[in-house]
Amino acid sequence: MDRIRIVGGSKLNGTIPISGAKNAALPLMIAGLLSEETLILDNVPRLADVVNLQRILSNHGVDIMSAGKRPGDHEYQGQTLHISAANIIDTTAPYELVSKMRASFWVIAPLLARMHEARVSLPGGCAIGTRPVDLLIMALEKLGAIITIDGGYVIAKAPGGLKGAAIDFPKVTVSGTHVALMAATLAKGTTVITNAACEPEIQDVADCLNKMGGRVSGAGTPRIVIEGVARLHGARHTVLPDRIETGTYAMAVTMTGGDVLLAGARPELLQSALDVLTQAGAVISVNNEGIRVSRNGAGIMPVTVSTAPFPGFPTDLQAQLMALMACAKGSSHITETIFENRFMHVQELARFGARISLDGETATIDGVAKLRGAPVMATDLRASVSLVIAGLAAEGETMVNRVYHLDRGFERLEDKLSACGATIERISG
Ligand code: EPZ
Repeated sequence: MDRIRIVGGSKLNGTIPISGAKNAALPLMIAGLLSEETLILDNVPRLADVVNLQRILSNHGVDIMSAGKRPGDHEYQGQTLHISAANIIDTTAPYELVSKMRASFWVIAPLLARMHEARVSLPGGCAIGTRPVDLLIMALEKLGAIITIDGGYVIAKAPGGLKGAAIDFPKVTVSGTHVALMAATLAKGTTVITNAACEPEIQDVADCLNKMGGRVSGAGTPRIVIEGVARLHGARHTVLPDRIETGTYAMAVTMTGGDVLLAGARPELLQSALDVLTQAGAVISVNNEGIRVSRNGAGIMPVTVSTAPFPGFPTDLQAQLMALMACAKGSSHITETIFENRFMHVQELARFGARISLDGETATIDGVAKLRGAPVMATDLRASVSLVIAGLAAEGETMVNRVYHLDRGFERLEDKLSACGATIERISG
């Protein structure tokens, strides 16, 4: 299994191109199941999760063509996928495929909406808590689906098709909102989703559905209204930039010092994180190429932060912020409110000499002057990258084991960082 070796201590200077957002690309690819015509997606990141989802969609009979590079394309430019679900030949998403990635469970929505039946294995995914699907099932039942669970599979049927309904989520859920939104586009009548997730990736999917002939309004707010249509047609859509990748590199630069342009990044996608970084001592400016982050001379200041649904501070940046705060001048407090078990990075950060104590859902981080490199191992995607950030700032050598988590969500991480002066390499095997 690949490992990443880092020799810490170098400042980061240069440009990092930001890739398309994983968490938009995945539901957008799944939305391709809603139409018999071709959905063309540009700026799709080259990630293990995307490859895995391609496999899952192929199993349903979807043809996916990945267009090669064109003259003039930037070397980091994302790929273009042509997704054609003309004939869905299988409405089962098997355990072997779905267990690798939680988002693949979401195929249940378009399969049910278009084929009136789906049989999808209960999901797997990152080890960050129990992560149930009760609210997804609730939403589909509101739309008229009859759902049973048997042998680890969710079996959903809607013999006469789905019907528009009022769906009020008792808690904000990104997965629940994606599923309700996709299913409702082909339901008969009007669906109103309240307490919907406002994440930019939801809005990106809604924009794409509208290009396909869907009638969705209010996406990006807590109230989404969907007028169902009989069919969706083909369309072309560009995946929005990855706000979590942006925030991750912004934290890396704040930690090591230096000056980096995050090319293609959009500040409105992560304003709360940029505010926290400014408080921590980063200098952030925005120009028409992206977001520029620097920290020169000044120390890292401690912060108190709680994760929250968008537009709050994202849970997907919590581990990275904790790595940064390990070297702050004083005590920081980070509270995780979205997932109950998303602190697996704490014990690994301790290997670098970080001083972190946990009390329920709040971590207290007492900053130390220097971290020291160490062999570490990550248990989930964002935890893995927090170890990379710590390694970049630590004295000496760090070896990050189990790199496959990183490959699920960060495109060419080591290339992007080494181009900015980091000593980082992948060791294969
Ligand atoms: C999405 O996960 C993201 N994944 C996650 O990113 C992200 O951490 C999360 O949203 C929160 O922002 C993708 O977009 C592919 P939720 P999701 O439904 O949709 C509970 C990453 O690293 N809940 O908003 O699964 C749930 O347990 C990943 O890229 C229920 O109780 O998150 C959690 O506590 C990790 N019942 C809360 O809601 C349900 O039926 C929010 O989950 C569904 C969710």
